[in-house]
Amino acid sequence: MEIFVTRRIPAKGMERLAAIGSLNVSGVDRQLSADEIVRGAGSADALVSMLSDPLSAEVLSGLPKLRLIAQYAVGFNNIDLDYAKAHGIAVTNTPGVLTNATADLAMALILGAARRVVEGDRLVRRGEFAGWAPELQLGIDLEGAVLGIYGLGRIGQAVARRARPFGMDMVYHSRTSKPELEAELGVRYVSFEEMLRTSDIITIHSPLTPTTHHAFDKKAFAQMKPGAYLVNTGRGPVINEADLADALEAGSIAGAGLDVYEHEPTIEPRLLQMERVILLPHVGSATRGVRERMAFMVADNVAAFAQGRELLTRVV
Ligand code: DGY
Repeated sequence: MEIFVTRRIPAKGMERLAAIGSLNVSGVDRQLSADEIVRGAGSADALVSMLSDPLSAEVLSGLPKLRLIAQYAVGFNNIDLDYAKAHGIAVTNTPGVLTNATADLAMALILGAARRVVEGDRLVRRGEFAGWAPELQLGIDLEGAVLGIYGLGRIGQAVARRARPFGMDMVYHSRTSKPELEAELGVRYVSFEEMLRTSDIITIHSPLTPTTHHAFDKKAFAQMKPGAYLVNTGRGPVINEADLADALEAGSIAGAGLDVYEHEPTIEPRLLQMERVILLPHVGSATRGVRERMAFMVADNVAAFAQGRELLTRVV
């Protein structure tokens, strides 16, 4: 069996993959273009893909032997699932192993935005710290603040568990309400509009779907509480980035903490200039342990496929 890996993953995962079949790895450590994927994986039976690989119908149609896409990510919005399904290509992802790390990073952004951590660091480095002052860099109290969780899947739930001890009052909006989780997590289901209107901080954990694409746009920002913050560790295109920059410029929301972007790796230039925005380079799952567990999960899916066993984490 021929396996093509679009970008080297942690060594232990590569070792497992090498034991399964003939392994072909992209020679460059960067995001591949559609043409490069078609050239590299032209004769592959299994493809180990990254969330940034554009696996459109056009690209997949250039990979006639392909029977498995083992995505090295939990999200799979880069893959044309309809095409894969219609052409007998199975798709797997890496759910579960990155839940806690991503929730941790969401909390880091929530805390960082509320207490202006990065701004403070920059101020000190500029040599502008002139000693303690009664009104220097005032942030907002987390205790009693309303946290709006957009998407109560695994990661949204893990964020609720982490935010609860801070004394936050939590509401959520999801495709469906999850009454069975509400008492345990201390969350309350509200409409999208109510979440926008009442939250001091909103944290995004929905998948990217046609419904969630640009859910946070001009109209949504106009309804958000003045002085609120928006945190995104999910998928960039859930936010209309130009509209976010407009809302921040107008001061209708106070700040944002972003780990993902609408057109990665490009970022709306106005956001780069704003003090009240924390920008991270898509590192939600970036801990050594998690990336290794993701690599094992990918390799175990490829092994199951090669041996004709049931796939561990099948998407389609
Ligand atoms: C995922 O797996 O979808 C994450 O965005 C990776 O950090």
